[in-house]
Amino acid sequence: MNANHLSHLLFKTTNESDLEQIISIEVQTQKSPWSRAQFLEELKRKDRLCISCKINSIVVGYLFCRIVSPDSEILTLSIHPNYQNLGIGSKLLKHTISECSKIGILKCFLDVRVSNNIAIGLYEKLGFKKIHIRKNFYTDNLESAQVMMLEIQP
Ligand SMILES: CC(C)(COP(=O)(O)OP(=O)(O)OC[C@H]1O[C@@H](n2cnc3c(N)ncnc32)[C@H](O)[C@@H]1OP(=O)(O)O)[C@@H](O)C(=O)NCCC(=O)NCCS
Repeated sequence: MNANHLSHLLFKTTNESDLEQIISIEVQTQKSPWSRAQFLEELKRKDRLCISCKINSIVVGYLFCRIVSPDSEILTLSIHPNYQNLGIGSKLLKHTISECSKIGILKCFLDVRVSNNIAIGLYEKLGFKKIHIRKNFYTDNLESAQVMMLEIQP
């Protein structure tokens, strides 16, 4: 991977045919991976932004966002392990925030495991602020969640 490959990076609305690749990334990157049924349910909903980033039609990352106007909430975000730390997560998040801004969304919320320093660093880099902790939020290991919020510039 190099900067040349990244020039081929495209953001696309996720559809069912992307799910096989998404689930393969999901099981490699998430502690409690979503099932195929959960992803399908998300894709059916009208109040979701479901964005995949692709290089030459290969899914290298994805983000699911709930729209509850005037707020939004990042539900999940992952980048394929071979494509991490190349700026793709930042680009995907910036793209999502820009899409939210276009439809008048004013705030974006998310929760992230308190131990996930890489993700917290990414969110802080993009302007998200830590607002509070939800204790024992994650059911797999009772880890707490850091709740974060971004005020989106109209
Ligand atoms: C969190 C995640 C989405 C970041 O995506 P990414 O494409 O790797 O992120 P970027 O390349 O844009 O980097 C964002 C910042 O994270 C840091 N970072 C990313 N990968 C890193 C690594 N392996 N080690 C150390 N720092 C890392 C970088 O320092 C970077 O900031 P900087 O380049 O300005 O210093 C990705 O690591 C991932 O999919 N993780 C597993 C799933 C997850 O934790 N999702 C988020 C919570 S649901």
